[in-house]
Amino acid sequence: MALSFRFWRLNLLPKPSLSHLQTTLKALKPLKQKLSPICSLPMSSSSLNPLNSHLSISKNPTFSEPHNPTACPQDDLVVLGIETSCDDTAAAVVRGNGEILSQVVSSQADLLAQYGGVAPKMAEEAHLQVIDQVVQEALDKAKLTERNLSAIAVTIGPGLGLCLRVGVRKARKIAGSFNLPIIGVHHMEAHALVARLNERELQFPFMALLISGGHNLLILARDLGQYIQLGTTIDDAIGEAYDKTAKWLGLDLRRSGGPAIEELAREGDAKSIKFSIPMKQHKDCNFSYAGLKTQVRLAIESENINATIPISSASSEDRRTRADIAASFQRVAVLHLEERCERAIEWALKIEPSVKYLVVSGGVASNQYVRAQLDQVVQRNSLRLVCPPPSLCTDNGVMVAWTGIENFRIGRFDPPPPSDEPEDIVYDLRPRWPLGEEYAEGRSEARSMKTARIHPSLTSMIQASSQQQP
Ligand code: KG4
Ligand code: ZN
Repeated sequence: MALSFRFWRLNLLPKPSLSHLQTTLKALKPLKQKLSPICSLPMSSSSLNPLNSHLSISKNPTFSEPHNPTACPQDDLVVLGIETSCDDTAAAVVRGNGEILSQVVSSQADLLAQYGGVAPKMAEEAHLQVIDQVVQEALDKAKLTERNLSAIAVTIGPGLGLCLRVGVRKARKIAGSFNLPIIGVHHMEAHALVARLNERELQFPFMALLISGGHNLLILARDLGQYIQLGTTIDDAIGEAYDKTAKWLGLDLRRSGGPAIEELAREGDAKSIKFSIPMKQHKDCNFSYAGLKTQVRLAIESENINATIPISSASSEDRRTRADIAASFQRVAVLHLEERCERAIEWALKIEPSVKYLVVSGGVASNQYVRAQLDQVVQRNSLRLVCPPPSLCTDNGVMVAWTGIENFRIGRFDPPPPSDEPEDIVYDLRPRWPLGEEYAEGRSEARSMKTARIHPSLTSMIQASSQQQP
């Protein structure tokens, strides 16, 4: 019986030696008993996740019985998910049947409001201060201890290296102490897959528009771990544009800029200021928000808006002007999404004619106006829109735990780390980590993609933080 098994994602760097592998295999034996009620798939090379895998072991003597995955519901799995890729420290416990046993998020919004962006060293410090408490609270709320867990899932990228490291160290510490397998999760994959937690009818293949502070992605999800990137941003993501607009308009940033703009835009006239829609001349599915940001900044300057006067103290005329700018910005920012989605649906249906759903997820997807506009696009194209509830659109631990469950079910996980793993070990963190393969026909001649895959304001910070990793 030729069984194969992959250690994936959370491998330590550099690649382990043969003696390390033998030690690892020994460690798997007691784990097998722990996992015995759980099914895991023998993986053919076609089912391997193209996102990852440094190290493969072709024959695994301890894991994986061939089985029919649909005959194995695995509802009893209990997975702890940990998320620290940017400015939220989050943890959650989720059951294999999708039941959310607990969800805890500690936000650094006050720091963000104070400094107007994410400073990696400060963000790391803030994660370090709360990580133990957040994880403990997630376990307590779920009325469980570490001993009740089946596995731990943790975000390993993309994001800030220093921040990712806090979550990964915590996850490995628990996994090592309690002999638990561990699943390294792609943050954007988690934003997409969490839609399957609520919407059980959402089968592959489906499309996803992932819109957050650092990413703007249009993907075709063909299967678990098999993604085609139809479009991405060539500069800023839409969330960054919301955040900067909110800052320049003097809005309250404590809940981040997006919700503040959404609220103020309801008071404004969305057609009062004529911003131009980005990249109209480029017939592809890529995005650009840097130019729109500049248009907004110039409009704010020409209206002499003083951002040091908070909106709560502005005169009614001043408030009205700010609301008009917020509404006009939001209209054009979302028109850009609509236009790209129309084209992406056309492309996706050519590749996979059976696509029926467009998932919209990531922080910006909690916006009601965004949802309503995109709903019209999918309806025009006879598809269905699936948006996770707002608390699962913004960064959270549930999406990480759920993505862990999806991967664990098909045998994609790493064995428990040693319980005495040294603190200064080099983890496999992936600050830059593309999701899937780029659709060749979708390449834009407009793009300078070298710096486009991450939040531009984070580029230098990420470089600095990855240099600081031991
Ligand atoms: O996914 P997320 O929580 O974190 C990242 O992975 O970046 O997304 C955060 C982004 C921020 O830019 C925030 O302003 C935006 O999502 N956001 C919103 C809304 N809620 C959060 N943007 C527009 N409208 C909202 N209601
Ligand atoms: Zn996110």
